[in-house]
Amino acid sequence: MEHLLAALRAVAEPTRLRLVVLCARGELTVSELTQILGQSQPRVSRHLKLLCEAGLLDRFREGSWVFYRFCQSSPVGALARLLVAACGEADPTIALDLQRLGAIKRQRADAASAYFRENAAQWHRIRSLYVDEGEVEAALVDIIAAADPRDLLDIGTGTGRMLEILAPRVEHALGIDQSREMLAVARVNLERAGLENGLVRLGDMYQLALPDASFDAVVVHQVLHYADRPPAVIAEAARVLRPGGILMLVDFAPHALEFLRDEHAHRRLGFADGEVAEWCAAAGLDPAPPHHLAGDPLTVVIWTAQRRAAPRVAAEIAGKRPAALVEGEVR
Ligand SMILES: C[S@@+](CC[C@H](N)C(=O)[O-])C[C@H]1O[C@@H](n2cnc3c(N)ncnc32)[C@H](O)[C@@H]1O
Repeated sequence: MEHLLAALRAVAEPTRLRLVVLCARGELTVSELTQILGQSQPRVSRHLKLLCEAGLLDRFREGSWVFYRFCQSSPVGALARLLVAACGEADPTIALDLQRLGAIKRQRADAASAYFRENAAQWHRIRSLYVDEGEVEAALVDIIAAADPRDLLDIGTGTGRMLEILAPRVEHALGIDQSREMLAVARVNLERAGLENGLVRLGDMYQLALPDASFDAVVVHQVLHYADRPPAVIAEAARVLRPGGILMLVDFAPHALEFLRDEHAHRRLGFADGEVAEWCAAAGLDPAPPHHLAGDPLTVVIWTAQRRAAPRVAAEIAGKRPAALVEGEVR
């Protein structure tokens, strides 16, 4: 009971309630929260400290940035979710906060889009600056060979490299990206590779215009570090996976290369195995042990997770493959 009372005391103040509502919508830095609330940084930091102590928010430092996020797993998580739902969006103060949050997210998204727009043509060179891609690609090919999927989705396909290496091993492959410029390069690459079963289309990884349970494999390769809501990306990937389907997330282990933020629009400096496993489990996926490909200075990690089979479809999966994706669905 004591932790609930402490949480109620912590949140019983207008600014702190607003902070909880904001952090329920994504990981935010102190400076973003300060901008939204229009209050001084020391003041906002004091409120955030109290909320963290009460188990309502999580704080984590990554290089020079400190992020705050909603604490899903703490014993008071259910209370926090209830409060956020009860606040609604009709309250004028909350509505204004959410409007400002929307503006900040748009600015951020515009900056990242501009980066990809400007770098689409030379992306192939930039991506290989980080690590030996050959090793990562070979590991992904092995995973696909073992899983033997029919329909594959590549979220944040960029110039379509994942499609180039994985589409020959599946029946249908679809790449989604929000950058028209990246997709233009991807189309040329797919054409050049003669991949007739690989398609790309414009889309948002947070809201895929694709039906539930329509893919056997989803790959998210070097995309998650641009996300301000990585768990939401994973949940959306899980939604489109068929029961038994496999998610492959490829990104960096935690690192301290700040220049990737300043010069390459990264938001997160890598991910810890624990947080990725937690997000996968929350999305209805069973995480497998991660595969670390140590590099200098960056280590790449391949996290795989399998979509849990709902009890009613488990027998069906054991007996036969799910229905193939209809061509028209992906165009
Ligand atoms: C670093 S590139 C990786 C591209 C590709 N997966 C690869 O490894 O070469 C990240 C890609 O994610 C895309 N992206 C970023 N945010 C996105 C979003 N909200 N929805 C869809 N694509 C997004 C970018 O446009 C960019 O093409």
